[in-house]
Parts: sequence; structure tokens; C-alpha cells
Amino acid sequence: MIELSILVRVALATRSPRMGSAWQSMAYHNGVRSRARAKTLARPSARKRLVMTGGTSGIGRRIVERLLIERSQWTIILLARPSLRSEELHALSDPERLTVIDADLASLRSTDRACDEVIRFLNSEAIDALALNAGVQTVSHDASSADGFERAFAVNSLAHFLIVERLKGHMRCGGRIVTTSSEVHDPDAFCLMGIGRARWQDPMVLADRIRSQEHIASIVDRGEARYCASKLLNVMHVRHLARELSTIGVIAFNPSVVPGTEIARDRNWLQQLSWRHVLPALAPILPGARSLEQSSSDLLWLLTEADVQSISGSYVDGREVQPGSKDSRDWSKIARAMEVAKSLISKRLHANQRTPAKN
Ligand SMILES: NC(=O)c1ccc[n+]([C@@H]2O[C@H](COP(=O)([O-])OP(=O)(O)OC[C@H]3O[C@@H](n4cnc5c(N)ncnc54)[C@H](OP(=O)(O)O)[C@@H]3O)[C@@H](O)[C@H]2O)c1
Repeated sequence: MIELSILVRVALATRSPRMGSAWQSMAYHNGVRSRARAKTLARPSARKRLVMTGGTSGIGRRIVERLLIERSQWTIILLARPSLRSEELHALSDPERLTVIDADLASLRSTDRACDEVIRFLNSEAIDALALNAGVQTVSHDASSADGFERAFAVNSLAHFLIVERLKGHMRCGGRIVTTSSEVHDPDAFCLMGIGRARWQDPMVLADRIRSQEHIASIVDRGEARYCASKLLNVMHVRHLARELSTIGVIAFNPSVVPGTEIARDRNWLQQLSWRHVLPALAPILPGARSLEQSSSDLLWLLTEADVQSISGSYVDGREVQPGSKDSRDWSKIARAMEVAKSLISKRLHANQRTPAKN
């Protein structure tokens, strides 16, 4: 077991060139698919509505598949980048149950426009569950978002902050918001993959593509630390929302290490091979690893069944409430993180209104 864990660490410590693929360069066509589908969705009152990000691959994709097959009363509004993956999803169900709205979470403007589409599409109906599951981990370079922010900060944290700000008023009383975080938000938590952790920095620094975790020399470790910092911001956001939204259950979910997903897409070929094809078979015996089936079941449970109201504001590992990191419970840091997110969003969206962006 120890040897295996060392093998995994060695593979992940190797640098990789950034991998590209055809779907990553597809054009952005805001709202086209959503409008086409909006006409066809029936709205019986028994219907339940899930709005979600990160549903095109990995854990989120399994949630979409299972909800469509196992829970006939649920409909899904998915915010996703145009891609072959999101196109494939249309084949999974009749169009009345799945609507895809184009959204690139690496762009605040795109995310904001997608929220406009969601609100239009809801047509005054309420959201039962909001799943903030999209995530990105860049370890090959100092990646930035369309708005110039460090990419993990922008996609994993800031875009989701904006989505909640725009959609919280459309949640059903007794509804739920579940954000996918990670154990690596906590510098002291065990992680099988040996991910390099973050040092706390002011969120203005975390937003900066160069200064974020700048003290870490290795680009791989720095990218991992930035990812960890974004996952800490997710837990902080949940703690804050639980205080603000008394009629909604808000949870930060830890799926643990779930091999077989696309989260390792920026790793080298050996790491990707191991992540996609070797580790999934070993997940049942590796400490701290979970199968895609198990983690998607846990997330589905939080989104549809669990009494999240009674544990609102919690960090939930699988199905177990855990304290989360010390920083995640530091209210002055939480307040600062929320203040920075609000200010960056308002400045950037305001600037975008004056200067039309390309996407
Ligand atoms: N797998 C693990 O071991 C693990 C462990 C702890 C936490 N997590 C978290 O679990 C969540 C799901 O991860 P996963 O492992 O299932 O990874 P994944 O297969 O890579 O899924 C990530 C999802 O996020 C979406 N996404 C990424 N960047 C986006 C952008 N700019 N705009 C819109 N959507 C974007 C992806 O869409 P595209 O198809 O367009 O790329 C995809 O649907 C993430 O939040 C991740 O941080 C995963």
C-alpha cells in the first residue's frame, strides 16, 4: 500500500505540458441551446429543479446521468461550456428534462449572462437545488481567467460566488446549495495524492495570477496550492451563506480522491494514464480514495435527500460532517474573502459594461 502511494506521488510530481483538445477551442454561443430548449420544458408543480455547474464530466456527469435515470421528477439546468461532452448530454434524456445554458466560468461576463438565461428560463419557478461542482486544477503554467484573475480562484470560487449572488433569490424556501470542495482545503488533512497545500494569503493576492502562492518555486506545487486555496474559499463561502440564508441548507462537500475524472487533464501522460485507467480499479483499497459511484451517490444524497437544513454551514466529507480547517472557521478571514469577491465582481462587471469583452 505504501509503495503504491509512493508510485502515485512520483507520477504526480512529474511536470506535464498543457494538454489541449478540440472541444476546448470551440466557440462560445451564449444562450442558443437554452432558448431552443426553453420552449419545450413542461412545468408540472411536482417537478424539482436542479441548477448545476460541472455536469459535463467526472462526478458531475454521473450526477446528471443518475438524476435523469433514477429521479423522474427532477429537471436539470446545466451551466456548461460548449463542447462535445455537453453535446453528448443531450442524447441522455428527453429535452424536457435537461437544459444546457452556455457558460464559461472563467469569464464573469459569460457567467453573469448565463444567470440571466437561467432566471428567464425559470419563469418565476423556484430552484430546489443548486450544485456548484465545476472545478479546474492547472499545474503547467500561471493560468488566468478572461478577467485576468488566477484561474482556479476565478472558476472554482469567484464564478460560483457570482452564481449564488444572482440565483439565491430564486431558491425555494427549504432548498439547498451544495458546493464541491475538497479535503485539500485543509493543510493538515491527509490526501492520498500528496497535493501541495496553500498558505493563507489575502484574497486580493489569491486573485492575482502571479502573486498567488508565489513563494512556491515548483509550478506544479504552486498550481496545486492555488487549487487548494480556491477550495478553502468554497468552504468559507458556505459558512458565510449559512448565516445569511436562514431558509436554505448550504453545504461544502468533500468527494475525497475520486480517480477516473477529468480533473487531472493538465497532468502529463503518465499521470493521466494512471488517473484514468489504473487508479479507478484500485480506489476501493486505496486509503482516502472513493469510487466515482460512491462519491456521486454521496453528492446526489446531499442534493436530493439529506436534511441539509439542520447541518447548514457544514463541511461534509462523503456523508459525515467534519470540522474542516481552522482557517475555514476564521470569521475575520471569511468576511475578508466575501468582501473581496463582491468588490472584484462588481468592479469587473461594471468595467465590462463600459468595455465590451470578446466573450
Ligand atoms: N476527482 C477528485 O479527486 C476530486 C477531489 C476533490 C474535489 N474534487 C472536485 O470535484 C469537482 C468535480 O471534479 P471532477 O473530478 O469530476 O473533475 P472533472 O471531470 O474535470 O469535472 C470538472 C467539471 O468542471 C467543468 N469546468 C471546468 N472549467 C470550467 C469553466 N471554465 N466553465 C465551465 N465549466 C467548467 C468541466 O467542464 P468541461 O467539460 O467544459 O471541462 C467539468 O464539467 C471539482 O470541483 C473538483 O475540484 C474532485
